Amino acid sequence: MRLDLNVMAMLAASLAWAVPAAAQSAAPAVEGEKFNVEQLFATTCGWCHSDGGREAGKGPQLMNTVRDDDFIRNRIKNGKEGAMPAFSTTFSDAQIDDIIKYIRALKPEKG
Ligand code: HEC
Repeated sequence: MRLDLNVMAMLAASLAWAVPAAAQSAAPAVEGEKFNVEQLFATTCGWCHSDGGREAGKGPQLMNTVRDDDFIRNRIKNGKEGAMPAFSTTFSDAQIDDIIKYIRALKPEKG
């Protein structure tokens, strides 16, 4: 009985550690801060949407898109069969909002 209580205490302690760690890594996405969209775009989307989305590659140019937010969100979440992978399990809704903002803010590169 005494041993069982010790085990319980250890379990509780390890859970107490796990929770803040998870909350920490989730926090930036929820706040929409410190989530480096530019870097993410370059590594995750950039090999199909060239030059940060400014030019067409395997996928279309995203800068100056005429698509509305719903279309873009839908495309990022669900992808397109045979063309673009789905990212609904990769990014939170808040992160996708950040990606949409990033696309809307794209400007031609200087120089
Ligand atoms: C494997 C290549 C590939 C990757 C990786 C990829 N895309 Fe795409 N994407 C495409 C293709 C191809 C299309 C055109 C689909 C179609 O025919 O409608 C597309 C379409 C889109 C569109 C709609 C553009 C439009 O006007 O129709 C958006 C927005 C978009 N991608 C965003 C992203 C984002 C954000 C990422 C990274 C999270 C990403 N894509 C990663 C290939 C890719």
